[in-house]
This record gives sequence, structure tokens and C-alpha cells, in this order.
Amino acid sequence: MTAITVNNLWKEYADQVVLERVNLSVHNKSFCSIVGASGCGKTTFLRILLGQEIQSRGTVTLNGAPLPMDPSAERGIVFQRYSVFPHLNAVQNVAMGLELKRSPMLGRLFGGARNAALDEARAYLAAVGLDFAADKYPAELSGGMQQRLAIAQALIKKPKVLLLDEPFGALDPGIRTDMHELILRLWDESDMTIFMVTHDLEEGFKLGTRMLVFDKVRVDPDAPGAFGATITYDLALNKKTKGELKDIQNLDLKKKD
Ligand SMILES: Nc1ncnc2c1ncn2[C@@H]1O[C@H](COP(=O)(O)OP(=O)(O)O)[C@@H](O)[C@H]1O
Ligand SMILES: [Mg+2]
Repeated sequence: MTAITVNNLWKEYADQVVLERVNLSVHNKSFCSIVGASGCGKTTFLRILLGQEIQSRGTVTLNGAPLPMDPSAERGIVFQRYSVFPHLNAVQNVAMGLELKRSPMLGRLFGGARNAALDEARAYLAAVGLDFAADKYPAELSGGMQQRLAIAQALIKKPKVLLLDEPFGALDPGIRTDMHELILRLWDESDMTIFMVTHDLEEGFKLGTRMLVFDKVRVDPDAPGAFGATITYDLALNKKTKGELKDIQNLDLKKKD
């Protein structure tokens, strides 16, 4: 079943066109890797999918219905860093994902509901390999552990769509490999559709079932904001294309403006 359909989407800020003519149809449980030059609108695209930003033109549907504007409804997001609350310990951070979902105004649950949320949070901490760190604060955790925490916080809401914005970009290569295994396992165990922005083409190929390249087709040197980026390559990734990684690594993803 098609999870997300994007139809002729445009996004403009004042006189700057960021995205133009974006069309996309994504099946449930796809893992879409997104690459493109810095500043070409990848985060903006994720924020539109999250419901945090409204497109200027075009439509986005989730399971056939217009995208709900409540970001916490069915979508979760993990940023490159700093998406956890520094004043909450690990288990409280993960429980906050649930509290914001179930009590959006207060961001708090009480009594039995809170205890149940904390129990559930411990289970999600265990799923990302952080059960030993339940009482630790983010500052006491390594970058990789903080990202595991952010992933648990997003997953506890059981999102249908998980948006990852360069989630592993700040991590050391060895840790990144562990995180790849983690995210593939969590994705495999769920029905989530994942969109992951990455600067690392190899990572995009390794994890994705599909690779979307955002780029500007038209560029006016005298008016840098006149045109936006669109999807210029949309590659289905299977074992064969993954094997041709080296050829595809030569794709020109350099910034044109
Ligand atoms: N809230 C905003 N107001 C105005 N301009 C914005 C806003 N958010 C993003 N932009 C601009 O949109 C362009 C795309 O930004 P972004 O989506 O963050 O790119 P990417 O994630 O691909 O690096 C940039 O030129 C950025 O300055
Ligand atoms: Mg970005």
C-alpha cells in the first residue's frame, strides 16, 4: 500500500523557492535515503512530512488522507544531535515521547499512566541497547548513546513514518556501523516507512531500499532564489544496484548555486 504521496509540491520562503515540482509515491515500509547539496531543502522536505512546515503548493497524503498537521500524530523525527532533553534522564526522555503524544498540552502523565509510560520507556531503552543507562542524563552519555536515546524517544510513539535527518553524521565510523545495524533491525521489526537524509552516499545505499537525490535542475546565477530543488534521481536499490555503488558514487551532488 502507498504510504505517502507527494503531488507537485512547492515550498517558498519569501522570494526564495526552496523546493519545486516534487512528486513522489512511497510504499509502506520503504526506506528512502535522501541525498543532495547542503541547503537544497532536504530538512525542509522532512519538516513538511512531519507536519511542522506547510508547503506553498501541492499536496501530501499519508495513507490516502491529507497529512495531519499534528507533528506527533504518526510521525517521529531524529535530528543529527541535541534532540533529547538535557534536564531529563534517559528513561524520562523516552517517556516524554509518550507523554507528549498522550498529553500534548501538559507534556506530563500522572499516577498509573506515568508508571506505565516509564515501564514502556524502559522496554524501548532496552531495544536500543541502553537499558544500563536508564538513570543517566544526556551529558553523561556518548554521542552514539544520545542518538540511541533520541531513536527510542521517537520509536515509543510507534510512528508510521520515521524521519531521520543526518542522524549518524556526527558519530565515529565504528559507532555508525553499530547504529546502521540498530536502525535496520528496528525497521525490520516494524512497519515503519523511513526517510533518512544523509551526506554519506555509501550509508544511503547500504540502508535504503530507495535513493532520492534532490538537486536544482534550473539555476539562474543572477537570481539564486528563483528556482528550487526537485528529485532528480529516484533509484530503486536492490542487491544489483548496491553492487554498482562505485559507479554511482560518481554522481555529481555538488552544490550548483
Ligand atoms: N524557516 C525558514 N525561513 C526562511 N528560510 C528557510 C527556513 N528554513 C529553511 N530555509 C532556507 O531554505 C533552504 C533549504 O534549507 P534546508 O531545508 O535546511 O536545506 P538542507 O537540509 O538541504 O541543507 C535554505 O536556503 C534555508 O536558508
Ligand atoms: Mg538539513
